[in-house]
Amino acid sequence: MISALNELRKHAKRLADARIDALFGGSGRFENYSASGAGILLDYSKTLIDDAVRSDLLHLAELRGVEALRDAMFRGCKVNITEKRAVLHVALRADDAATLPLEGEDIMPMVRAGRERMFEFAEGVRSGAINGVGGTFTDVVNIGIGGSDLGPETVVHALEPYCDGPRVHFVSNADGASVGDVLKHLDPSRTLVLVVSKSFGTVETAINADTARAWLVDALGEQAVGDHFAAISVNKPAVAAFGIRPDRRFDMWDWVGGRYSVWGAVGMSVALAIGAARFNEFLAGARAMDDHFREAAPQQNLPILMGLVGVWHRTILGYPTRAVAPYDHRLSRFPSYLQQLDMESNGKSVRADGTRIVGATGPIVWGATGTNSQHAFFQLLHQGTDVIPVEFLIAGRGHEPGLDSHHKVLMANCLAQSRALMCGRSGDEARAEMLAAGSGEAEADRLAPHRHFEGNRPSVTLVYEKLTPETLGSLIALYEHRVLVEGALWGINSFDQWGVELGKALAEELSGAFDDPAVLPEGGDCSTSGLAAALNAHRGKG
Ligand code: F6P
Repeated sequence: MISALNELRKHAKRLADARIDALFGGSGRFENYSASGAGILLDYSKTLIDDAVRSDLLHLAELRGVEALRDAMFRGCKVNITEKRAVLHVALRADDAATLPLEGEDIMPMVRAGRERMFEFAEGVRSGAINGVGGTFTDVVNIGIGGSDLGPETVVHALEPYCDGPRVHFVSNADGASVGDVLKHLDPSRTLVLVVSKSFGTVETAINADTARAWLVDALGEQAVGDHFAAISVNKPAVAAFGIRPDRRFDMWDWVGGRYSVWGAVGMSVALAIGAARFNEFLAGARAMDDHFREAAPQQNLPILMGLVGVWHRTILGYPTRAVAPYDHRLSRFPSYLQQLDMESNGKSVRADGTRIVGATGPIVWGATGTNSQHAFFQLLHQGTDVIPVEFLIAGRGHEPGLDSHHKVLMANCLAQSRALMCGRSGDEARAEMLAAGSGEAEADRLAPHRHFEGNRPSVTLVYEKLTPETLGSLIALYEHRVLVEGALWGINSFDQWGVELGKALAEELSGAFDDPAVLPEGGDCSTSGLAAALNAHRGKG
């Protein structure tokens, strides 16, 4: 294993002065360094990967057991070994004939029944058969955070052209601004509130749900809660104690992690917005990517290739971050979604067996839509001191046939950026261009260093026909599986999230200090107590 990494490090040294654009050499590099699956084309030719690097990366994947881990996940083995759980979000989108035994019981009938219940409810609301005190529900408020928010919000936003149900709003942050700004525009008598929380114990969701409940009860009385609330949670007692009827609770299972849960009842707001038929297309797209991941040879396998490129950039070349730039306005929430998916999964420093990892693991994931981001952070991508690999996403067609002129601008910009990052522009070229445009010699000399682009900055591009429910399903599943691949390459358990716990526990300890300044936890540091005192002073306390 170490020797495979060493081989890759030797390649990095060998290629230290190489240029990505020189790897093209008039050959069929695009054909050789691209692959397709489930309606998505991946071009990774604009990276510093040659045949020898790729072959050693594929060898590393073999040594690290990427395919074995994938197969174990699909079989329902407990690959989340710290929590001793299977990882079966793929079951939520498996085809109707599938069977999947887990501890001796086929879980698929339960999955299908859960989906049917969700669809029945969603279609009932959409048709007006299920309604509120004031008639048909015009608005739905999804209260949840992390995986109980980012997945559904990203999908509802991305599929706006398909949204023909009630308007869906998302409340997540503990900040009262989040719930306040949404509720103040809504009519409680025509609003359905979904409380989405696997645990039903997450502080932000609990406080937002209580606020929404009080808002509703204030307007309509206690008896309206039953008709205006539904819950998506495994925690039956807590849901009942909140006053939500048993027939309005939709189940989740411990073998689906929060950040992988949009495919089931957590996707209720998606089903309400786009309807059951479109939701099924979304699932079908993910299923197509699952099949591709399981069946395509590693050198043609999109999640495996993307994972290998990721590890090459992070571990071997040492790039600390990666940017995602969807040239698809409706994917504006996608970078945030990926932050949880990727960083909560692979932001870890110990291996699955508890030993410390030497070297880098999950990169910082960030980004925003093109073309807006070109006018914000692309300056740094082109001329900053860090190399930041970029993932571009672009459709061949938009949803606005009458606005194809816009789409051409979008596509041209996307391709121009990846080319500019790769090719750059030398100081001499910059100087010559300025002289040709009429600048004097002195001015051209003065500005040439500022207008010089080093280039040689890597990117990958994903191309798809159009952002349909099916394509979005494939895209999200691709990124989910890339997490597994990278986790396997780093030896990480990608499916737990212990790193979120400490801050939650400390917040609980500290919360009392804002009622009574004397109640600061013992043994604390003077920075924390000083800051608490400063906040309390602003609140007229202490
Ligand atoms: O804090 C992290 C986390 O546990 C995520 O993994 C999860 O998606 C989120 O909180 C919300 O959890 P729940 O659905 O239980 O409210």
